[in-house]
Amino acid sequence: MLDSPLSGSGSVARRQKSTLQTHVNSSAGNALDQLSACVETRGPVVLPALLLCDFGHLAREVERLEEAGAAALHLDVMDGRFVPQLTYGMVVVEAVRRAAKVPLEVHLMIEEPERSIADYAAAGADILTVHLEGLADPARTLEAISSLGPKAHLAISPGTPVERLVPYIDRCDGVLVMSVEPGYGGQRFNPVALEKLAALAELRRSRGGAFRIGVDGGISTETVGPVAAAGAELIVAGSAVIRSQNYARAITELEQLAREAA
Ligand code: DX5
Ligand code: ZN
Repeated sequence: MLDSPLSGSGSVARRQKSTLQTHVNSSAGNALDQLSACVETRGPVVLPALLLCDFGHLAREVERLEEAGAAALHLDVMDGRFVPQLTYGMVVVEAVRRAAKVPLEVHLMIEEPERSIADYAAAGADILTVHLEGLADPARTLEAISSLGPKAHLAISPGTPVERLVPYIDRCDGVLVMSVEPGYGGQRFNPVALEKLAALAELRRSRGGAFRIGVDGGISTETVGPVAAAGAELIVAGSAVIRSQNYARAITELEQLAREAA
C-alpha cells in the first residue's frame, strides 16, 4: 500500500513533499539539466508515455523503458471530466517517481488543475504540464508551478491557436502542442500540430525565448521526422513505443529519425 497524499491528511502530503522535494531538487533536478543538455547537443528526445503500459508491473515497465534509453517519461493524468477517460493520479505518479531515475513530465488533463499542482509537485513531477484551455488564470498557475519547483509547461489542444499561448510564453519553461485530441492513446496524428510547432520555433528564434517545444499524440516513424523538422524537441510517444516488440529499438529508431530531420 502506498503512503499517498490521497490516503489521508494534509500532513501526509506535507511530509511527502519534504522527502520528495529533496529528490526532485537533487538527483532528478540534475537529470532535468541533463535532459536539456541532451536536447541541446544531440537534438530531439523521445519521452515514452506510460498510458498503454502494463500497470500490473509498473516498476518493471519503468525499468524497461529506462534500460531502453528513455531520457524522461511522460505521465498522462486524466480525470474523466476535462477528458472522457479516467487514468490515474498522485498515487501512481508517486510510485513511478520511486521507480524512475529519469525526469517525469506529468501531463495534467484535469479540471481546475490549479487545485492539485502542489500535490503533483510533491508526488515528484519534474515538469508539470497544464492545459491552457483549463486555466482560469494561466499566468498565476505557471508562477505557482515554478514556485513549487517543477518546470512549468503549457499544453494546447488541436483546436487552440498558438496566438493564445503568446501572452504566457515568457512565463513558461516549455509548451506542449497536442497532435491529437487529449484523452486517448493510439489516435491518428493531426497535422495541424506541424504549423503550430513551426510558429513556436519561429517565435522563439525571433524573441530569443528559452522555452522547450514539445509535441504529444500520434507519433510514429512516419510523423516523428516532420514534427522534429518543424521544431519539436520533447517528443512524446505512447503506442509507438509501448506497443512495439522492443522498447529500445523503437526509442532509438524514433530518436534517430527525429535527429536526422531536425
Ligand atoms: C493523449 C495523451 C498522450 C498519449 C500519446 O491524451 O496525452 O500522451 O499517451 O499516445 P500516442 O503516442 O499513442 O498517441
Ligand atoms: Zn500526454
